[in-house]
Formats: sequence, C-alpha cells, structure tokens
Amino acid sequence: MRRFPRLLSPLDVRGVTLRNRIVSTAHGTFMSEGGLPTGRIAAYQEARARGGAGLIIHEASSVHWTAVGAGRYATCHTDACIPGYRAIADAVHAHGGVVFGQLYHPGRGDIAGSTSDGSIAVSWAPSPVPCERLQLMPRAMPTALVREVVAAYGDAARRLRAAGMDGIEIMGHHGHLVSQFLNPRTNLRTDVYGQDRLRFLMEIIEDVRAKIGDAAPLGLRIAGDELGFLGLPNAETVEICAAIDRLGRIDYYNVVAGSCSSFDGGIHVVPPMAIAPGYVAPFAAAIKAKVTKPVIVTGRINRPEVAEAILAAGQADLCGMTRAMICDPELARKITEDRIADIRVCIGCNQACIGHGAKGAAISCIQFPESGRETGLGRPKTRAAQAKRVLVAGGGPAGLKAAAVAAERGHSVTLYDRRARLGGQVRLAETLPGRAEFGGLADNLIHEAERAGVAVVLGTAVDRDLIDRVRPDAIVVATGGRPYWPHVDGRDSGHVVHALDVLEGRANVGASVVLVDTRLDWTAMGVAEKLARDGRRVRLAVTGHMAGQNIQGMVRDHWAGVLHGLGVAVAPYMRLSGIDGAAVVLQHMVSGAVETWADVDTVVLAAGQIQATELEDSLAGFNGDVHLAGDCLTPRTAEEAVLEGLQAGLAL
Ligand SMILES: Cc1cc2nc3c(=O)[nH]c(=O)nc-3n(C[C@H](O)[C@H](O)[C@H](O)COP(=O)(O)O)c2cc1C
Ligand code: SF4
Repeated sequence: MRRFPRLLSPLDVRGVTLRNRIVSTAHGTFMSEGGLPTGRIAAYQEARARGGAGLIIHEASSVHWTAVGAGRYATCHTDACIPGYRAIADAVHAHGGVVFGQLYHPGRGDIAGSTSDGSIAVSWAPSPVPCERLQLMPRAMPTALVREVVAAYGDAARRLRAAGMDGIEIMGHHGHLVSQFLNPRTNLRTDVYGQDRLRFLMEIIEDVRAKIGDAAPLGLRIAGDELGFLGLPNAETVEICAAIDRLGRIDYYNVVAGSCSSFDGGIHVVPPMAIAPGYVAPFAAAIKAKVTKPVIVTGRINRPEVAEAILAAGQADLCGMTRAMICDPELARKITEDRIADIRVCIGCNQACIGHGAKGAAISCIQFPESGRETGLGRPKTRAAQAKRVLVAGGGPAGLKAAAVAAERGHSVTLYDRRARLGGQVRLAETLPGRAEFGGLADNLIHEAERAGVAVVLGTAVDRDLIDRVRPDAIVVATGGRPYWPHVDGRDSGHVVHALDVLEGRANVGASVVLVDTRLDWTAMGVAEKLARDGRRVRLAVTGHMAGQNIQGMVRDHWAGVLHGLGVAVAPYMRLSGIDGAAVVLQHMVSGAVETWADVDTVVLAAGQIQATELEDSLAGFNGDVHLAGDCLTPRTAEEAVLEGLQAGLAL
C-alpha cells in the first residue's frame, strides 16, 4: 500500500490529466533574456518534469507593456515569446509532464517601476494609492487602458497556448493588478470597474476563455488572505471566489497567502522557515467550501507528509511544493518510488531561490546549486576518468558536498572532521530561534554523502602528519573558519564575548546586553531574539543601514517584526569605538558623533569569522591535487560553501 495515496493519485482538470497532485507553482527563474524565455529555463523546467511533478505552472509572464519590468522577467505580450515558450512546453511534455502558463500584471506592486535601464517607469493601478512596500505613487488607469489590458490578458493566453502550454493561470493574488482591482482599499474608481470591483477579473476570464477556446484548463491564483496592511482578508477572498465560481469559467483555484504591497503581507509571498509548514491550508479550506472546482494550496509544504495530511483533511485537492522542487527536482519521483529518506527537504531559507531575484542572479538553491545551473554545473554528473583516493578535510557544507559529489563520480573518499558531529557552522546556525530547520541542510548533505559511499572519520583534525600517512591522491580543504575578533579598545575585558560563544552556550551573559553587529546577517538578529526571549535587555548596534541588511528581504522583515515585538532597540549606522567597563562607546558611521551607552553587563560581538588557513599553509610539497572550498577561502555563507564543494567535487 502506497504511503501517500492521495498525493500520488491522478486528477483530471478539464480533460487534462495530472499524474499526481504535486504542483510546481509559478516562480520567476530570473533567467529570461530581454524578457524572453531561454534554453536555460527550458532545461530548468525539464528537470522538474523529469522528476515527476504532476503540474508545472510556468513563471509569471507580463501580458502588456504597462506590466514590463527589467529584462530578466518574462513577458508574453508579443508573438516574439512563442518560440521560447514552445521550447519549455516541449521539454516538459517530453517527460510526460503538464505545463500551464501564468498571466501577470503587477499594477503598482512587485516589479512595478523597474526597467532594464535603471530608470523608474510609470506604474499603473486602478487608483493613485501608493504601495507601502515600494513607495511608488501609481497612476490611475484610464478606462480605455483598462479595456486594452483586459484584451492583452486574452492575447497573451492565446500566445501561450499557441506555444503548447496545456493551460492558463490568471494571477489574482499577491497584491498584483487584479487584486488591486478587487480590493476596496486600492480600487477607488468611480467608473464601471469601481462600481463593480470584480468586473476587471470577470472580463479577463471571459476574454481569456474566448481566446483559448473550451479545451484548455483555466485557473485563478488567489491569496486566501493577503495577511498584510490594507490587504484582502480571507472573508472577502472567499466571497470573491464564490462569485467567480458562479461564472463557471474557472477550472481550479490556486490558493496562497500574502501580498507584495506591504511588508507584513510580503513575508508570505515566499514564507521563510520561521513560518509553519502548510499554514495556508485553512485559508484554502475556506475557499474550497465555497467553490465547485479543485483547489491547490501552497505555502511551506516541504514534505510529502504535510501534503498528504492536507489532502486527507479535505482542505485542498492539490499541493504546491514549489521550493521543495527548486531544492529537489526529483521530489515527485522519490515519493512515487517510496524513497522518502532521499528527499532533499527545502528548509525555507529563501537564500538562493527568491534571494537571487533581488541580486539579479538566476534562481538556485543553497542546498542544491545544480538547480538553475542545469546547462552548466548542474548537468548530470559523469564518472571520473580515473578513480582517486580523495581526502576531504572538514565536514561542514563545503566538505560534505565535495565528498558526496566526488564519491558519486567514482572516487574513493574519506572525510575527516575534528568535531564529533558533522555539519560545521550549520550546527550553530540551527540553534538560532526559528532557524532549527537550517540543520536540514547538513542532514541532507550527510545523507547524500552516505549514499554515495563516503567514509567518515570524526574527532580527527587533518594535519600534515595525517596526510603523509594516508597519502591521498587529492585533498579538498574545507576547514572553515574561526571566530573573528575585531580590534577595539576594551575588547579583552571578560564581559566582552563573541556571538558564536553565545550560540555555543560558552558565554556568561548578563541582564543588560549590547550586541554589535558587523555582519548584518542572521547571527545578530538571532542572538538578539534569543537573549531578549530569555528576558535580557538588548540593544543592537548595526554597522550598516539595518539589521539583516545582507539577508533575504522576507526573512529580514519577519525578524525585524519579531525583534520589535520583543523590545530590542536597534541603532543603525553605528560602529563600535571602545568598551570601558559598563560603558560602550559608539560612533555614528556618517556624522562621526560619538555616544556612550551605559549600564552594559555584557557586550556581544557578532563579528563573524576569519578563514582557517593552517592546513592549506602546511601543504607545500604535497604531490597531488588540492582544492579549497567554503569559508577556509574566506568566510561567506553556506550557499558559497555548497557551491564550491560542488565545484571541487566536479574538478577531481
Ligand atoms: C524564486 C521565486 C519566484 C516566484 N515567482 C512567482 C511567480 O512568478 N508567480 C507566482 O504566482 N508566484 C511566484 N512565487 C511564489 C511561489 O509560487 C510559491 O507560492 C511560494 O514559493 C510558496 O510556496 P512554497 O513554500 O511551496 O515554495 C515565487 C517564489 C519563488 C521562490
Ligand atoms: S534556497 Fe532555501 S528556501 Fe530556496 S529552495 Fe533552497 S532550501 Fe528552499
């Protein structure tokens, strides 16, 4: 008997058979060029189809010139897009997959205003109500433009169908144009589109249906609750779906949460790991109770157990497992083959998937850098021409990935770690509040290394003696770093501790804490939360614009809310000038003004790490390949560690 009978059962949507209930919901890959789909995107989607996804909804594609952003965002508002989408549809079909296209217009939200040349474009919306998150004042769409855009949805759908997409999904969610028309707080119009706020969506549905014919499924993506300032609440969304359902034109509803229009709603657009798996299901259930067609639910469904439970409870008919398949394109196949332990579970870190979008880089995954690199580093691995004896020094993300890849390629690999447990810095990172799932990164890599046949030696630091005894053909140095102590007057006082010591439970922390953050990443935010939850008074001095400046926006915004709620006082633009007993002297990084914070029991320095180069320095005269990966090169993040581990494993 199958463990996930509901998740693996097929479903018919207007005559199109989905082989299971596992959906890769639409997600920008940031790999378009000049707004047009590329071969890299086709290879990316092909990998998910090969991996067995039941339905792939291809990324948002702009339907009209008023919806166009920078070139890496996809468009479908001219016929020039058709060959690129055809290549994607063909690639998915070649593996028995089903792919729908998604129709997108941001209105005043999301990519509104962004252009390829860096200037700010006019953003269009139902009414001139600014978007809090983008601080943009949009321009009200004249009625004639509204009608033109309605027709553009239908024309775009026709193009996607002509390219071979099996169905079409309309974006009615995330605070984009359709939801701006639906929302009485953003649609203040007095014309027909204001008198009846559903009219814009209903006209789009009619126009799309007329232009794609009766054969193709047509879906509506909608936020079950926008969960943010001036967003559409669940009660209003449920009524909207009920009204749309009465039209009888929509074949499925795809329920998410959140909105790009506000900071609080924005967190839910790609919910970070601090948010519970499957939390959107109750919103989906409320909609499902009012509609006659299947409902997809999406939001942190990262394991088949979560998905099956939602289906079993009748809260939805299909589950979006989107980052789950960015992280593991083979997810559906592994579930089908009952290889559950082999699933590389998405940890909701947002770092390399949506995080890459803000950096202008192609989509990837912190745990699986092969993702988004299907035509390069992510190509199927080949066996090494000559099997070597490989020694990997360091069992953090870089060493584990290098070892797994090298062993998979036929090398005989032994991995050493000086500690008693594999995982390196990940084992500290997972102790931060709300970040326990981060440990999954190490667990997944350990499983991959074990499966590939890597031998592991714990409690043994690698030095030159060991290398001379073992005499490997090649070495991967992945020894990471050690805490970095900045030079500052008073640093050597006993009440000055390192953030990593706090995480390791080695520091004696008093009641009143000043935390100085020179990394602007997860550590200071997490330590601040941890100490504040323990009842300490926490003041956080940040050497930059804001705490979390260097981490993904939704993760940062969520954490900023938590710290505010806990009463942590955050001071931006502050550098540490000196420590004098209970007084901490700080200097504004721009004005140069100096201020003293009094009554400090403990100063915590979140100053990151410095690279450990001892092993590398000892290798002079070693007669074999040496590869360096991760923080021992220079301390960065787990993403670079895993990527460089992959590169080392492929180079051997
Ligand atoms: C990189 C990235 C890009 C996204 N782009 C889109 C998009 O184009 N259209 C859309 O409807 N949702 C988009 N989303 C949201 C996803 O479809 C999905 O709702 C979200 O990732 C939460 O689901 P998950 O927890 O299964 O990943 C995007 C998500 C990610 C990670
Ligand atoms: S980068 Fe993080 S959130 Fe994104 S797919 Fe990978 S594990 Fe999931």
